[in-house]
Amino acid sequence: MSRAFAGLANRLLDSGTSTSPSTTNAALSPLGPVISVINPLSSFLGMFSHDIGIDLGTANTLVSVRGRGIVIDEPSVVAIDTVTKRVLAIGAEAKRMVGRTPSTIVAVRPLRDGVISDFAVTEKMLQYFIRSVHERFGLGIPKPRVVVGIPSGATEVEKRAVHDAAMAAGARAAYLIEEPMAAAIGSGLPVMDAAGSMCVDIGGGTTEVAVIALGGIVRSQSVRAAGDAMDQAIVDYARQVHNMLIGERTAEQVKIGAGSAFPLDEEFSVDLRGRDLATGLPKAVEVSTVELRDALSTVTNEIVRTVRATIEVTPPELVADLMMHGIAMSGGGSLLRGLDRRIATETRFPVYVATDPLRAVVRGCGEALEEAETLAKVQALVATRRPPR
Ligand SMILES: Nc1ncnc2c1ncn2[C@@H]1O[C@H](COP(=O)(O)OP(=O)(O)OP(=O)(O)O)[C@@H](O)[C@H]1O
Ligand SMILES: [Mg+2]
Repeated sequence: MSRAFAGLANRLLDSGTSTSPSTTNAALSPLGPVISVINPLSSFLGMFSHDIGIDLGTANTLVSVRGRGIVIDEPSVVAIDTVTKRVLAIGAEAKRMVGRTPSTIVAVRPLRDGVISDFAVTEKMLQYFIRSVHERFGLGIPKPRVVVGIPSGATEVEKRAVHDAAMAAGARAAYLIEEPMAAAIGSGLPVMDAAGSMCVDIGGGTTEVAVIALGGIVRSQSVRAAGDAMDQAIVDYARQVHNMLIGERTAEQVKIGAGSAFPLDEEFSVDLRGRDLATGLPKAVEVSTVELRDALSTVTNEIVRTVRATIEVTPPELVADLMMHGIAMSGGGSLLRGLDRRIATETRFPVYVATDPLRAVVRGCGEALEEAETLAKVQALVATRRPPR
């Protein structure tokens, strides 16, 4: 790691810079210049380079390379040796270690609850993915441009850290796009149109709801009620109702296999396996999809509440557009059985799940790279230090 993030944070705080997502490109804000200029030479070189789109997700990181499609789809997990501080594994290999590591190894998820909780490790992970794409595809000359989808709650310091990590990994230029915007583009919504469209991206850490028109986010809300919270709800249910301890990964498997948000045509039961909290011995109980739906309801209710709350504050003209076009869902959480029907029932809007919803954000990043005009409009700007006088 070449840069000390504490120092970076301090420099940024000292500089007192700010940014606005609606500021146009290359703007010189009164507080300091804003980086991420789309320069014509870079755009020209972009025609020949294998530009890269990255969805830096809480649960999964995906990388797409222009002309090659999605080349990396790995869990956002890093295994670290606590003694030497060396990175031992990244991605699927590191995820297999979660909950199974000896005391000298920790498996870290550097993004939690939709925010970057560990800068240094996030930077390492990002560089690892960009470099492995470089190695596989020989993306040396011209250097690639990189678009990274970031959580919409990312702070200035985090945005700067992601931008710098991409540059340090060999990008010619790095652009950031907020996740709901990337999700909307990747879901095929007409984001540049005057007519409003709405997307609900349910990831691991956060559910992001956004109404978009004319290339900007008109209204948005983000809550920490998404895939991870659903897993935790199942862990809590097992402990409270069956007095047993189950792991996070078991909970996730049960959620995917039998979780739901709306009554199923045919309810069924599955085995839940874990450790009896009273005896410490292995235990298995049969749980029904009805019980699991009830256990998940705190999270699914919160998601529905957030969608409704966003609609309530959306300007009426745009609400009329939404009634026509419906709501697009993306992210892994949108695959929870019946969540689309539940949202449709409670909002009375047509709701549909985007094609290949886990890949909508990375698709959106890739598509933004193809269109300089769209990218210029939708990117999240990053503030830099005020130049010395
Ligand atoms: N079939 C399914 N049913 C329910 N949940 C699913 C399904 N498939 C994946 N998930 C969940 O989707 C989540 C991961 O989704 P995704 O990859 O979109 O998140 P992310 O982009 O990494 O997170 P975030 O957007 O919050 O940063 C995980 O919690 C996973 O358990
Ligand atoms: Mg996501």
